[in-house]
Amino acid sequence: MNILGIETSCDETSVGVVDGDGRVKSNVIATQIDIHARYGGIVPEVASRQHVLDIRPVCEQAVTEAGIDWGDIDAVAATHGPGLAGSLIVGLNFAKGLSAALGVPLVGVNHMDGHVYGAWARPPEDDDGDHGLQPFQERVGEQPIMCLVVSGGHTELVLLEEHGVFRLLGETRDDAAGEAFDKAARVLGLRYPGGPEIQRVAEGAPTDVEPLPRAWMRGTDEFSFSGLKTAVLNRARKLGIYPPVENPASPADPQIIAALARAFQDSVVDVLVTKTIGAAKRENCSGIVLVGGVAANGPLRETLVAKSPLPVAIPPFKLCTDNGAMIAMSGLVNYRNGRRDDWDLDVIPNLRIGTSRLSLN
Ligand code: KG4
Ligand code: ZN
Repeated sequence: MNILGIETSCDETSVGVVDGDGRVKSNVIATQIDIHARYGGIVPEVASRQHVLDIRPVCEQAVTEAGIDWGDIDAVAATHGPGLAGSLIVGLNFAKGLSAALGVPLVGVNHMDGHVYGAWARPPEDDDGDHGLQPFQERVGEQPIMCLVVSGGHTELVLLEEHGVFRLLGETRDDAAGEAFDKAARVLGLRYPGGPEIQRVAEGAPTDVEPLPRAWMRGTDEFSFSGLKTAVLNRARKLGIYPPVENPASPADPQIIAALARAFQDSVVDVLVTKTIGAAKRENCSGIVLVGGVAANGPLRETLVAKSPLPVAIPPFKLCTDNGAMIAMSGLVNYRNGRRDDWDLDVIPNLRIGTSRLSLN
C-alpha cells in the first residue's frame, strides 16, 4: 500500500510517499525561501503562483524517487487547512485531479495533525539517526503525549491522548515563535528566515547578556511573543542599532547584535521549554514531541532534552518543517480510519486541530 501526500499550505511545495507501515519512500520539498527573502517575508500571491509552477514536477519526482508507478498509489492525501487559501487551493485541486485520474480515494488532512504525525512516520531507510521516536510510537494510547508544534505560523501545545485524538491545550495569542524570530531578525538587520540567522549570530554573544522579559501567561497553556518583539525593538533603538545603520564606515557593533539575538533566543527557549514540560507533567504524559520549523533551533532542542524528566523525540529535520511525507502519514491514519473525501472538499484557511478523530488500526 502507498499513500501520496501533498502539502502546499504555505511556502513549501512538497509531495511525499509513505507505505502501509508508515515508512517514508520519498519526500520531495521545493522551498520558496529565496523567492520571498527579497520581501522579508511570505507574499501570499507570489507563493500560490509558485506552487502552480512547482506542483507537477515535485509530484513526478516524488513518485520516481519512491520507486513506484502511478498505478501503485492507493490514495491521495492533501492538506486542506490551515494555511494560505491561495496556496492550499493549488495542492488540493492537484490532489483532486490526481485522485480522479488514478481512480483512488482523496483524503483531506489537517496540516497541524500532519505536523504531529511527522513524528510517527518511519524515517527513510537511508536515515540512520536515532530520533527517539520508537518508544512513543509504541506507547501512545497508554499515556498521552505532549506535542509542541512551533513554526512560522504556529505555536501550539497539543495533547495526543490516543491515536488521532488531539486536544489543543493552548496556542499563541499573537505572533508564532518562528514569526517572532523572523521579526526580531529584521530589527537586527538579519536576513529572512530569521530563525537560523538569530541562532548563528547568538553563538558569538558574550555570556553575560542582559536578559529580556519572558511572557509566562501564567495559569494558561498559551503563549505571547509580540511583547518580546517590542522589547527587542526598544532595546535596539536605545543601543542605536535601529533603524539599521546605513553608514558603511560605522556599521553596527556585531557584539551588540549578538547579545540582543542571544537575549531574544534565551527568552523564547525558556518560555517554550518551561511551559511544555510543565504541561506534560500536569497531564501525566509519557513523553514530549517537538515538531515544526523552529524545532531546528539548537538551543531549543538541547534545553528541552536537558531539562525534561520525560523522554523527548524530535523527528529528522525534513519531517519537522512543512513536508509531504507527514501529510501522507496523517493521510494513512485517516485512510485506515475510513476517511474518504468528496470533490466538494474545500480549503479551510483557519481549520482547527482536533476536529477529526482517527485510529491507527
Ligand atoms: O515549519 P516551517 O518550515 O514553516 C511554517 O509552517 O511556518 O517553519 C519556518 C519557521 C521560520 O519562521 C523560521 O525562522 C523558523 O521556522 N526556523 C528557526 C530555525 N530554523 C527555522 N527558528 C529558530 N531557529 C532555527 N534554527
Ligand atoms: Zn507547518
